[in-house]
Amino acid sequence: MSNPEQIGEILVQPDELNNRVKELAAEISRDYADLDQGLLLIGVLKGALFFIADLMRAIEVPCEVDFMAVSSYGSATQSSGVVRIIKDLDAPLEGRDVLIIEDIVDSGLTLQYLIRNLRARSPKSLEVCTLLSKPIRRPEAADVKYVGFEIPDRFVIGFGLDHQERHRNLPYVAALEPKAT
Ligand code: IMP
Ligand code: MG
Repeated sequence: MSNPEQIGEILVQPDELNNRVKELAAEISRDYADLDQGLLLIGVLKGALFFIADLMRAIEVPCEVDFMAVSSYGSATQSSGVVRIIKDLDAPLEGRDVLIIEDIVDSGLTLQYLIRNLRARSPKSLEVCTLLSKPIRRPEAADVKYVGFEIPDRFVIGFGLDHQERHRNLPYVAALEPKAT
C-alpha cells in the first residue's frame, strides 16, 4: 500500500535524471574509450537498479555488468556503519577496469567499505559513479569520480531509492516527508 502523504518536495525531476544520466554515460564513454577487456559496471543493489539500467544503455564502450548487495541501514534512516555483503560478485576482478555504480553516497561508510573490499581483489582500475551525493555529510572529499547530483542533507526516495523498501518506483527523486501523526 502506498502512502502518498510521505512523498515530499521533488528534488530531481524525471527529465533532469534522464539528461544527467546521458551526460554521465558520455563522460564515462570518453574516459574509457581505450579498454583491453571492456568496462565492468558493478551495481550496488537495490538502490542503483534504475540508474545502472539507464546508464548502461547509454554507455557506448563495450561493457559488462555484475551486482553486489550490501546492507548498511536495516530499516532506519541513519547509517549504522556496519556493512554486510548479502550478494557477492559472480566473477573475479583481477585486471579489470571496474566502475562501482551507487545510488547515493551519504556518510560514505558503505562506499569506504566497498572500495576497500574490491581493491583487495586487484582490479586494474576502480572508480565510483553515484547518482546522488550528500556532500554536507562528509568532511573529507570522498573518492567519487562521477556524481549525478549533489543534494541537501535530506532523506530521499524514488528512482530506486527506498524508505523501508517502498517508493523505489517513483520516476523522480523526492524528499521523504515525515509522517504526520
Ligand atoms: P552511507 O553509508 O551513509 O553513505 O549510505 C549508504 C546507503 O544508505 C546508500 O547506498 C543508500 O542505499 C542508503 N541511503 C543513504 N541515504 C539515503 C537516502 O536519503 N534515501 C534512501 N537511501 C539512503
Ligand atoms: Mg545503496
